[in-house]
Amino acid sequence: MSGQKHISRQNVARMTAPGITARKGGEPIVCLTAYDAPTAAIIDEYCDLILVGDSVGMVVHGLNSTVGVTLDMMILHGQAVMRGAHKALVVVDLPFGSYEDSVSSAFKSASRVMMETGCQAVKIESGTYAAATISYLTQRGIPVMSHVGLRPQSVNVLGGYRARGRDQKVAAEILNNAVAAADAGSFAIVIEGVNTQLADEVTKAVNVPTIGIGASKNCDGQILVTPDMLGLFERTPKFVKKYEDLKGITERAVKTYADEVKSRAFPSKQYTYKFK
Ligand code: KIV
Repeated sequence: MSGQKHISRQNVARMTAPGITARKGGEPIVCLTAYDAPTAAIIDEYCDLILVGDSVGMVVHGLNSTVGVTLDMMILHGQAVMRGAHKALVVVDLPFGSYEDSVSSAFKSASRVMMETGCQAVKIESGTYAAATISYLTQRGIPVMSHVGLRPQSVNVLGGYRARGRDQKVAAEILNNAVAAADAGSFAIVIEGVNTQLADEVTKAVNVPTIGIGASKNCDGQILVTPDMLGLFERTPKFVKKYEDLKGITERAVKTYADEVKSRAFPSKQYTYKFK
């Protein structure tokens, strides 16, 4: 082989879990979710971290919670995202029921996700009970991002998706969960649906980056569910800023297409073949 280097997108240095941890207190970490290769390819350029979130169950598969998401679904979407993203760190959510039971069930699920998708880390929704799992996985080569505050997989215990930490007891519990997750070796912590004051307290209390969603601008990074921020859904939580109106754009395009099909304006000459 010649010494010539083959330059391809595969050679772009990819963000790592320690690279994310090193950003604590530094330049804000940009994160978004993705579930397919084309979206991952678009957002890769601008994101430090792409999460294949189990929100896929709700925003792609039309489920009414993330509880029905399976490991196989996460692996399929993780593989697609890995085909599109070459620069950002790709983290795949461990779905409900795939990691809570024991450290060995967590390792089995997480190692399967990493081996079958090629992603670089997993995320788990965690309380103090999950500290043993986080340290077990991390010691065995699996970087873990934790998720505290509003934990959507616990919707049936919480009774809904309201912001968390309104009373002192729950706020203290969330702070403890974050500290336990950091101490156990999480490389970053997502904090969702809490008030600004609590998010800031957590960010100060832990030595790894906090990634806020409905939390505070002072978090070390921010994440949004991409279809939400693109305006694909009418009803979204208060914390979602819609940066585009893809629902409206799609509706307009589809209506024009339907009108043109009905009037036979489409396909015109430009879009048909004529062999000489
Ligand atoms: O599943 C998901 O998309 C998430 C984000 C909301 C952080 O966990």
